[in-house]
Amino acid sequence: MKVLYVASEALPFAASGGLADVAGSLPHAMRQRLVGCRIAMPLYDSVPQELRENMKFITSLSVPVSWRRQYCGVFEAKYGGVTYYLLDNQYYFKRKGLYGHYDDAERFAFFSRAVLEMLPYLDFKPDIINANDWQSALVPIYYQLFYSGNDWYKGIKTVFTIHNIQYQGKYGMEICEDVFGIPLDSRKIVEFDDCVNLMKGAVETADRVTTVSPTYAKEILDPWFSHELDPILRERQWKLFGILNGIDTESYNPETDAQIYENFGIDTLSEGKAKNKLELQKRLFLPERADVPLIGMVTRMVSHKGLDLVKSVLDDILSTHDVQFVILGSGDWEYESFFKTMQEKHKDKFIACFGFVPELSRKIYAGADIFLMPSKSEPCGLSQMISLRYGTIPIVRETGGLKDSITDSGDGEGNGFTFKSYDAGDMSYSIERALAGYANADGWNILRRRAMESDNSWGKSANAYIRMYKSLLKE
Ligand code: GLC
Repeated sequence: MKVLYVASEALPFAASGGLADVAGSLPHAMRQRLVGCRIAMPLYDSVPQELRENMKFITSLSVPVSWRRQYCGVFEAKYGGVTYYLLDNQYYFKRKGLYGHYDDAERFAFFSRAVLEMLPYLDFKPDIINANDWQSALVPIYYQLFYSGNDWYKGIKTVFTIHNIQYQGKYGMEICEDVFGIPLDSRKIVEFDDCVNLMKGAVETADRVTTVSPTYAKEILDPWFSHELDPILRERQWKLFGILNGIDTESYNPETDAQIYENFGIDTLSEGKAKNKLELQKRLFLPERADVPLIGMVTRMVSHKGLDLVKSVLDDILSTHDVQFVILGSGDWEYESFFKTMQEKHKDKFIACFGFVPELSRKIYAGADIFLMPSKSEPCGLSQMISLRYGTIPIVRETGGLKDSITDSGDGEGNGFTFKSYDAGDMSYSIERALAGYANADGWNILRRRAMESDNSWGKSANAYIRMYKSLLKE
């Protein structure tokens, strides 16, 4: 079985969020299970020079983007034994940042079309193409429209994975033909609410639709979570599956992670975490105290991450508890300015760091005692799994992948603390419970060990993907 995994970002070449983690680690896990899995992604300007040095030129193509023909250079690179195809066009991709350009629709129409056009020139004919999120949603759409009837392409199956239903690729109907090259008589495929909606088109045309946790697969059938797509998904529920992501347990390994202050394993947990915490406190200019519980958050500062809950209780928590709190991330002005105010007010308890700083995020995963992730919705979430791996106890709201990976320790079993309603009082109560847990050193150590023993490696998930692909090929 051969799978081509198509993503707009993949580690280590380019990353802006969780999709890059998944695209950079699932194919490795597939390969370990003897499934040929390769990755196709754009060759962005930001791809580091040392990775470019190992790229091999394969071919160049002229790709139709509606009535335009655009150059595409196809390069191949191997990383950790996995083959990446990097698609080059400087006009589209030699820019600052991966997304957010005025012509993103055209850039990713080009990319999706180029992926299909390049296939006959590779020494790898996929049985399955797995596209991801709106940026490659046109792959199954174009496949059905322009390639499925062609002898060479016939029989390839397509899978579309939703990492976040909020970003659907919505555009005015007027560019349907001119930019996407979708003829008038086929526009129904992508038309939704009088707009072009690429995610809707992919849900219609792909042979299977997956999302990144079983709970999110159910949630997106409900208008509260679906950003309007629930009627489309409900009709096609038969082809919708939720498979929980794993994390790259080699990269996120406290025993070997070169970016944390002190490596530790399950048997050196207490000393290791204590050392990491003191060094982190020093770096953050917080009082260096072993006894005070340190709560961490690493998050994009946007509403669906649950920051409104944090906003409504943070001042109170900091005023009434002997606690330290660090938040790292960037996003909406509303939240950033609130956290700045809190930092002014609670100088020796609270610190906010703005930006995307992978090195510091690892130090927080390793050095914090508690990791807070109260998302309003969370398709899967990787941070809670990384925290577990570093013995940091997550507090999460029971939604999406958070619900599927964290169980409440109230009954003496689970690996974290959870709450159900999107309610600041419920969140505060969970924080109180976690702080009470922290105060009981023996119990806390047992909980930390259980957290570190939770298995979130790709094993189970990769097997679930393989089962799904196999069943699809039998059809
Ligand atoms: C998106 C989701 C996140 C998920 C990630 C990888 O970033 O918001 O929940 O973990 O994709 O699938």
